[in-house]
Amino acid sequence: MVETMEAGAERVDASQPHRRPQLTAGEFAAKIAANPYIADLRSGNADLRWFKAKPGEGVWGSWGVRAVPSRRGITLMDIERAAGTEPGPEGPSVTAPRGAGYADDIGTSPWEINGKWEVWADNLVTLYEEACSRQWNATADIDWSRLEPLPNDLERALCQYNTFLTMGEYLATDVLAPWLPRFNTYFHEIKLFIASQAMDEARHTEVFRKRIYANGGGMGMAIKLGGALARAGGGMANAASNPLFSSWRDVSFAIHVVFEGAILSMFRFGEFLGKTDVDKQIFRMVMQDEARHVSYGTMHLKFLLDNAPDPESERERLHALADIAEVFFLDLFFLQPGTIESCAILAGDGLDGFAQGLETYKSVYKKMREEYLSRIKRAGLDRSQKCMFPLELPF
Ligand SMILES: [Fe+2]
Ligand SMILES: [Fe+2]
Repeated sequence: MVETMEAGAERVDASQPHRRPQLTAGEFAAKIAANPYIADLRSGNADLRWFKAKPGEGVWGSWGVRAVPSRRGITLMDIERAAGTEPGPEGPSVTAPRGAGYADDIGTSPWEINGKWEVWADNLVTLYEEACSRQWNATADIDWSRLEPLPNDLERALCQYNTFLTMGEYLATDVLAPWLPRFNTYFHEIKLFIASQAMDEARHTEVFRKRIYANGGGMGMAIKLGGALARAGGGMANAASNPLFSSWRDVSFAIHVVFEGAILSMFRFGEFLGKTDVDKQIFRMVMQDEARHVSYGTMHLKFLLDNAPDPESERERLHALADIAEVFFLDLFFLQPGTIESCAILAGDGLDGFAQGLETYKSVYKKMREEYLSRIKRAGLDRSQKCMFPLELPF
């Protein structure tokens, strides 16, 4: 077995990573030089096991694969078609790209999330390809120079609404990104898609921030994440103690389906509320990203319900989770003074139209509720008799 470079650093105290290793640079160089593999290499005896191994017999993955580019170039779908490495139901306990052979000393890696049913959606690969091809740039792709001055009440209301949305974007990234190292590398698709989503959410935070400071307004009031959030068990970053975020299936349902479903409705409302073409453009751009996130969540929910080892107990679990998630996000989205009132001012075309704007806000809420219920019903979860979102907002 080849002695790895790590052996040369065995006296490094791992609990004190900021300390210098106990070896001097000279000692370390001597240790490397004495490594049996390095010594063999120096004498002209290369290892070459990877080079000589027969494809498919353990050390090397496969050979002779030639993916054919499609019209767009080479997609992950083209690669799968050529390589035949579609994922099976369970990822192995090893850190390796799917389709690879394994070095003799690769060892085992106990991944936390290993089941296809826990992460998959039938549109996962195509959504990732779409995410890559539709990335946009908040600096250059928004026609900032065409932004027009707004009356004070409308600018202030839009800044408040965008301040609230900025906070929502932080929540999505902060909850989702820490799950990346927990997915088995065997299911690279979910790692790639969630990484692309983190970039989408970063860009959303960026574009709302830029809009807030681009037209004579400024950052508004950050909301108090109390109420339902406290009852759900912790602050937005406190994923460990929050029952909404205790497994990936829960996170995906809470974030992709409930939270981002509501965000999608809010963005659509934003496009309607936008008083300038630039504001409408911003909401159109964020909406196309958000639709992908909701699409993954919905299709994952369907896959989960169709493929969980015990679908009925999974369904019961999801209902219990939804009871909490709906209360949590109703409080977060639709009962906040800064959000209700800023939307009412925008929808009423000014402070004078507040009462009429409030009616519009309530109808947007109703539409969000209907869209949410029909989306999850299509995925196989019927909450029409259980939904915690009240039929109408009581004001
Ligand atoms: Fe977003
Ligand atoms: Fe999103």
